[in-house]
Amino acid sequence: MCSLAVVFAVLAAFHCSVPVSAESNLRSNYRPIIGVLAQENILGDPHAQGSSYIAASYVKYLESAGARVVPIRINRTNEEYVKLFNSINGLLLPGGDVDLQKSQYSRLSKIFYDLAIKANDAADYFPIWGTCQGFQQMTVLTSSKNLLTLTDTKAVALPLTFTPAAQNSRIFRSFPKDLLQSLAEENITSNFHSWSITMQNFTRNVKLKRFYKILSTNTDGINEFISTMEAYRYPFYAVQWHPEKSPFEWIDKPGMVHTPSSIRASFYTASFFVSEAMKNQHRFPSPSEEEKALIYNYSPVFKGLGSIFMQNYYFD
Ligand SMILES: *[C@@H]1O[C@H](CO)[C@@H](O)[C@H](O)[C@H]1NC(C)=O
Ligand SMILES: *[C@@H]1O[C@H](CO)[C@@H](O)[C@H](O)[C@H]1NC(C)=O
Ligand SMILES: *[C@@H]1O[C@H](CO)[C@@H](O)[C@H](O)[C@H]1NC(C)=O
Repeated sequence: MCSLAVVFAVLAAFHCSVPVSAESNLRSNYRPIIGVLAQENILGDPHAQGSSYIAASYVKYLESAGARVVPIRINRTNEEYVKLFNSINGLLLPGGDVDLQKSQYSRLSKIFYDLAIKANDAADYFPIWGTCQGFQQMTVLTSSKNLLTLTDTKAVALPLTFTPAAQNSRIFRSFPKDLLQSLAEENITSNFHSWSITMQNFTRNVKLKRFYKILSTNTDGINEFISTMEAYRYPFYAVQWHPEKSPFEWIDKPGMVHTPSSIRASFYTASFFVSEAMKNQHRFPSPSEEEKALIYNYSPVFKGLGSIFMQNYYFD
């Protein structure tokens, strides 16, 4: 009797100390589906089929953290995109090589970004993650300008220079201390970009400065640029580096890293974003519409170990 009472007292104590997380667990969506944006095929891609692609590494990256993926294909009507927005739980804007103001990728980004702003303003939590080109696209969407500067960052692995704001950021506060230390000290973040948003251009632009909190920076030796940021008032996140490459891309060139700490960094970013998508309650109108939309309906094409993207999904 006595020991049972102790057990109840302990359970009661636990219950009292965690009401917030218990409540939010009840409302979590443990079957999140994340939309990944397709983009125009790279000119001269010998494996290309149709007009657009998604690099499979972004799909595996999200799947590894417990999400399913729906491709968001280019050249569809606004109406179709609105319907899709109301069916998915988050959006990933992948890296690549298209025009940030004239491409279908930029058109779709704007449609979904605007819908996400409206949704979040109406307490419908909808997260967005931008990687590399996705990061750059988000700066263009927020500022309505292209403020990017050419930098010498085409194939280099760098350690992150964290700002004081990183410690209490939504992205990094859940990371283990030793992983944050690895990110700060080891060259484990892969940079494959010609353009960057410099500290100077960012801080001079009132729209960007008010919208995003800078969590880390880097330099190419001349320009200090922003490498990780999150929005103050929206669940929007962006990295100029490539967390998805370490576990899933294998081209043998400078800037590629496959150390255990780089793989952990990859997983923790994916897991963070998927946990954000779990806070969204959108769903497809029917199981059959969900089934038809999922990326499992397509097969990735192996492009060879020497390709910057080892496998791509292609779409009409
Ligand atoms: C799709 O979009 C691309 C890029 O904007 C355009 O060049 C192409 O004509 C479009 N294709 C179709 C089938 O609409
Ligand atoms: C951005 O910064 C670079 C220098 O780093 C400068 O040359 C460029 O004019 C800036 N762009 C804008 C639009 O301010
Ligand atoms: C590691 O990063 C530093 C910048 O912090 C850079 O100077 C150095 O060249 C990098 N080393 C390698 C091997 O990429």
